[in-house]
Amino acid sequence: MANHPAQSAPFGSILAGQMAVAEYHDGAWGAFEVRPVAPLPLSPAAHVLHYGSTCFEGGKAFLHADGSVNVFRLDKHIARMIQSAHSLVLPEPNPEQLRAMVLAAIEHNRQEVPEAPGALYLRPMLIGTTPNIGAAATPSSSAMLMVLCSPVWDYFAGGAKPLRIYVEEHATRCAGHLGMVKTGGNYAAALGPTLAARKQYGADQVLFCPGGEVQETGAANFLLIREGHILTRSLDPSFLHGVTRDSLLRMAPDLGYQVEERVFTVEEMLEWVKTGEAALSGTAAVLSGVGTLLRDGQEIRVGDGNIGPNTQRLRAALVGLQQGIIPDTRGWLTRV
Ligand SMILES: Cc1ncc(COP(=O)(O)O)c(C=O)c1O
Repeated sequence: MANHPAQSAPFGSILAGQMAVAEYHDGAWGAFEVRPVAPLPLSPAAHVLHYGSTCFEGGKAFLHADGSVNVFRLDKHIARMIQSAHSLVLPEPNPEQLRAMVLAAIEHNRQEVPEAPGALYLRPMLIGTTPNIGAAATPSSSAMLMVLCSPVWDYFAGGAKPLRIYVEEHATRCAGHLGMVKTGGNYAAALGPTLAARKQYGADQVLFCPGGEVQETGAANFLLIREGHILTRSLDPSFLHGVTRDSLLRMAPDLGYQVEERVFTVEEMLEWVKTGEAALSGTAAVLSGVGTLLRDGQEIRVGDGNIGPNTQRLRAALVGLQQGIIPDTRGWLTRV
């Protein structure tokens, strides 16, 4: 589609007109409704505004050539949202209700789903609303669950530039036990180091490697790739368990790649990128190739500095499945 508004707008800056909303009071979720996006009636004493009781999700729905809209791995996003809520002692969404809210939000914004390579970005969010500024050590007993939608474009599509990634070996992205939780405070914590690396080194993102072990970037997982082989950190609570990461790793054997999930060091990564590839995976990043690592004032080229052929191949397989060009043999798409 030529000149779709989402094509030129920053990712997530345009909201579709309708949102789904449900509230939790007295130990139970009320029925949800779909209504126009508008400011929230929220007490300035709301728990979320003081004690950060919030978590969210980020998924995508894709318009297929047959006119259907298809959500990618909806169940996995719902499960992660519930796990995030549980970790933060927020009222846990009911999975069936959250699923119905996502589908209703898409249905009511159907006219705003861009054609490929655009998508409708889906943002379920949960906030603690109890008005009590003395509740630092008390969970919120009321909450609001919402699903926002945003037409987005694929920033990789127009010939993306290979990324410049700053290797951070001291600062952590967030508190160790909260890495696998998708909560606002983690992003606030990563912002300072990310802006500093952008200003000082012209870096696009920071790769957090506390203690010299490679973890993930501020908003995407990190994969080392070469012909027939993918290496990425094994799952632990220190980083977000990406749905894109999981999808790529599960598709990889069928595409001829052996998958290795284990802890690996910065030194090993530097050895790998002499000839191999590196990429960031995530709902927004899809699979974005890294061209340069920035470490100790040095610029280290990844492979030949361009987006590698294996990164492009894996990315094409994932996007093809999401966009309905390659058959969905795993039941990962939910048709709306
Ligand atoms: C910190 C972080 N890591 C990894 C990811 C990738 O996760 P997913 O593939 O589920 O989008 C994201 C994006 O949501 C993220 O914010």
